Amino acid sequence: MTNLVTGATGTVGRQVVAELLARGQSVRALTRDPAKTEFPAGVEVVRGDLTDPASLAAALEGVTGLHLITFGGPYLAPLETGPRIMELAREAGVRRVTVLHGGGPSPLEDAVRASGLAWTVVMPVEFMANALEWAERITAGGEVREPFVGRLSAMVHEGDIGAVAAVALTEDGHGGQEYVITGPEVLTLQDKVDALAAASGRKIRLVELTEEEAVAQWRAGGLPEDVIGFLLEAYGNTPAVGRTVADTVEKVTGRPARTFAEWSAEHADAFGG
Ligand SMILES: NC(=O)c1ccc[n+]([C@@H]2O[C@H](COP(=O)([O-])OP(=O)(O)OC[C@H]3O[C@@H](n4cnc5c(N)ncnc54)[C@H](OP(=O)(O)O)[C@@H]3O)[C@@H](O)[C@H]2O)c1
Repeated sequence: MTNLVTGATGTVGRQVVAELLARGQSVRALTRDPAKTEFPAGVEVVRGDLTDPASLAAALEGVTGLHLITFGGPYLAPLETGPRIMELAREAGVRRVTVLHGGGPSPLEDAVRASGLAWTVVMPVEFMANALEWAERITAGGEVREPFVGRLSAMVHEGDIGAVAAVALTEDGHGGQEYVITGPEVLTLQDKVDALAAASGRKIRLVELTEEEAVAQWRAGGLPEDVIGFLLEAYGNTPAVGRTVADTVEKVTGRPARTFAEWSAEHADAFGG
């Protein structure tokens, strides 16, 4: 029983790898550049590119569980290769597939749903790891600069996304499910800043940006216009699903979802703690 994890060098994929290992599973990690990254002992690293399905054939040999991402390039360019990838997966004998939902329509996700295999769509809300984007400014100047400071988020620990995916890949009963995955509480930006301050022992000030100032900051950081539009919508008009606690983590894994205080303690170093 081997599991192939795509996006394995990424925020969520690393956690899927770790959770599968913790469950005693055999894990193969896909990357376009095996020389670039290190994986924990016991992980078999394979080269492959999701935009080139032929490059996946060898990686899929003997695989029964497959974790997929929906994008294949900079700024989450949607993959168009889903139908061919799923054909190869069926030929290889894959039984269970998890797919990390990208927040919008996806040809790859459509192909997974149509595959006839036991698929599970993993739908996380905002990742706690997004807070790492604040690390530099916090360590340099003790500030977080954000628009829409009243926004609410049920942000999720990426380890809990990995844990839900690992269960769905290795146990029966999760086929045909769409799992919304959240943390255990709804937080304001001030709550997040307070948790980071407590964990790092630093004073951190939350500075509210106007929409125009935020757009200028994102443009200066090189974000394309469509990503900026997405952020304005996600932050300025967060959908109910992003600010409502779901009990998926506990139901699927048997463990309570981890808090942002726990995440902050684990990552205190990155914030100068
Ligand atoms: N951030 C959030 O708050 C949030 C919330 C909900 C959903 N999401 C969704 O989560 C996803 C992002 O996940 P993430 O943050 O874990 O990703 P990430 O950290 O940005 O990592 C990207 C991964 O994709 C792999 N990759 C990219 N193009 C590839 C290709 N052509 N072939 C093979 N592998 C490729 C990279 O592998 P190599 O470079 O090693 O090849 C890397 O492992 C997106 O779909 C996003 O919409 C994000």
